[in-house]
Amino acid sequence: MAEKTSQDLLARLALVPRTLEARGLDAAPLIRDKLWRVGDLPGAALLEVILRDEIGHVAIGNRWYPWLCAQRGLDPVAAHAELARRHCAPRLRGPFNIEARRAAGFDEQELAALQTG
Ligand SMILES: [Fe+2]
Repeated sequence: MAEKTSQDLLARLALVPRTLEARGLDAAPLIRDKLWRVGDLPGAALLEVILRDEIGHVAIGNRWYPWLCAQRGLDPVAAHAELARRHCAPRLRGPFNIEARRAAGFDEQELAALQTG
């Protein structure tokens, strides 16, 4: 995805922090819990650090993506759908880490849209 979006900052923001890294927010608790269950407590603690760091990475996307959409006169939701289609981004599937996504700056409309598919 970094290569696919290397020529367009808007696509990079939409599809790396706001899609793939946001997916990391969803996946980290599941992996952390699996590690915990098999007794890998240091591994589980590392996943906590990764999750916390990832919120900051996603927040960068959520800070600049709407700004750049405004600069270009684009609707953020429609632009995201078009960029995801154009660059064959993976389709998002739950369960979603709504709390972490909220902390990373996704707005309530986007969070509601995720949960209704
Ligand atoms: Fe990251």
